[in-house]
Amino acid sequence: MNVLVVGATGLVGLEICRRLQETDHSVRALVRATAEAAKRAELDTLGVEMVEGDLKDPASLDRACAGVHAVISTASSTLSRQGGDSIKSVDQDGQLALVDAAVRAGAEHFVFVSFRQNPRIEHPLTAAKRAVERRLKGSGMRYTILQASYFMEVWLTPALGFDYAQRKVRLYGDGTNPISWISYRDVARIAAAAVDQPAAHNAVVELGGPQALSPREVVRLFEAAGVGPIKTEEISEADLESQMAAATDPLQQSFAGLMLQCAKGDAVDVTNAARLFPFEMTSVRTYIASQLSGT
Ligand SMILES: NC(=O)c1ccc[n+]([C@@H]2O[C@H](COP(=O)([O-])OP(=O)(O)OC[C@H]3O[C@@H](n4cnc5c(N)ncnc54)[C@H](OP(=O)(O)O)[C@@H]3O)[C@@H](O)[C@H]2O)c1
Repeated sequence: MNVLVVGATGLVGLEICRRLQETDHSVRALVRATAEAAKRAELDTLGVEMVEGDLKDPASLDRACAGVHAVISTASSTLSRQGGDSIKSVDQDGQLALVDAAVRAGAEHFVFVSFRQNPRIEHPLTAAKRAVERRLKGSGMRYTILQASYFMEVWLTPALGFDYAQRKVRLYGDGTNPISWISYRDVARIAAAAVDQPAAHNAVVELGGPQALSPREVVRLFEAAGVGPIKTEEISEADLESQMAAATDPLQQSFAGLMLQCAKGDAVDVTNAARLFPFEMTSVRTYIASQLSGT
């Protein structure tokens, strides 16, 4: 089967390519002209076919989709942006254009890496993800929509205020609501496996890690693992709500919305995901051990 991966130079997309290359599928990646040389080299080493294109350029999507059986898209402008990229142009219009291009090319299956909406907080990124999900459901292709909870390798790092190395952690809300932190590697493994899992066709699958832990519990696990006492500071839900209301930029508004969702917690019922994808999922404890041992 020919599989196109869009977002292949990103965290999840590259891991999907690694996983797919362990199967007998042929893998093609949509890569931008501006992509980092190291990422291209990695895809090249994996033996992935690269097609240059951009979600903002529909003609390039037609070229990328030609002859593929399945498309997996993880692309997002939230963390990796070039000129002209925005939630509207990439996460919404670009992804919609990709769904349309996949239909035109006769692709049979589309796997979309989306996120959860628990609780439902409206911001531009949610609107974009839901618009793509709706288009996919009506596309006539088989679809698998993966609604993933918070990635531990993103949200439990200094980039988002979880600076265990400096023993300083910023908590969204009071940090007591449990979240099913998931490893991006597990999301990638599931996205790649979805291509060969008929029971995951025409399905929305909620993804979370093996245990729901509050941010304060995660702080205690880091402390117990040898980091020592960690200082925490809280950003209240009221402050996050004000940030979201005051933001004029859709990206800032979306980040505030994601932090507010994080504050409210996200414990995922993973029964369905575990049935469809019976893998051993990475736990927060394993993540902490690998962070502290530098592996
Ligand atoms: N972080 C979380 O906690 C979380 C939770 C649930 C779901 N998710 C979802 O998971 C998905 C994957 O996240 P990630 O961490 O892998 O993201 P990432 O590392 O930032 O990768 C984003 C990818 O999208 C590509 N891209 C951006 N704009 C593009 C455009 N105009 N045309 C073509 N490609 C474009 C990037 O290409 P370049 O390298 O060329 O920039 C990159 O390959 C996202 O959709 C995100 O919403 C994330």
